[in-house]
Amino acid sequence: MSTTLTAQAISTRRLDLLPLRVEHAEEMATVLSDPALHTFIGGTPDSPQALRSRYGRMSAGSPDPAVSWLNWVIRLRDTSCLTGMVQATVSPSGHGSVAEIAWVVGTPWQGGGIATEAARELVAWLSRQPVHTVIAHIHPEHRASAAVAAAAGLTPTDERHEGEIRWRRSIRR
Ligand SMILES: CC(C)(COP(=O)(O)OP(=O)(O)OC[C@H]1O[C@@H](n2cnc3c(N)ncnc32)[C@H](O)[C@@H]1OP(=O)(O)O)[C@@H](O)C(=O)NCCC(=O)NCCS
Repeated sequence: MSTTLTAQAISTRRLDLLPLRVEHAEEMATVLSDPALHTFIGGTPDSPQALRSRYGRMSAGSPDPAVSWLNWVIRLRDTSCLTGMVQATVSPSGHGSVAEIAWVVGTPWQGGGIATEAARELVAWLSRQPVHTVIAHIHPEHRASAAVAAAAGLTPTDERHEGEIRWRRSIRR
């Protein structure tokens, strides 16, 4: 059985995770403008226009009704600045739904624990949804991202996906 899930606002100690909207594109184009953000994930920064159309496609949702595309921007509550985003793609699998999660934090805000705080609450939110397993794919040399995954309770597996290590956390229900 699969259900289409919808992103809901999630609050953490310092952050508001807000469901992604097209209107976030302009500010996010600045947040994500450093080419260094693409060292491990490939690609190049999007222009505001390209990000607008990308966010339009993302917020329209997956064409496959069995798959949920869940995306949040990360707002630092104190300053009201957007600082990055987290996402979860929830798909049916043989053993119940699997959520693949990912995160990005703009260079000026890195190293302050934002990705860790956001990823932990994202996994906590997913654990209240009909999701059995959370996975992430992380480049073997990406120490910061591995630390975020570990803090969110994922552990590395022997499985590889396009050269990246698959991390996993089972959610007991
Ligand atoms: C991965 C990323 C989201 C981390 O964001 P962040 O907000 O800086 O992360 P945090 O501040 O929560 O730090 C997480 C851990 O990484 C460590 N870390 C942060 N920057 C680091 C760096 N440049 N090198 C090594 N470790 C680093 C922190 O010390 C922390 O580890 P700890 O918990 O053991 O102290 C950010 O670097 C990023 O967006 N990178 C580009 C996009 C990307 O590659 N996304 C991941 C795809 S899987």
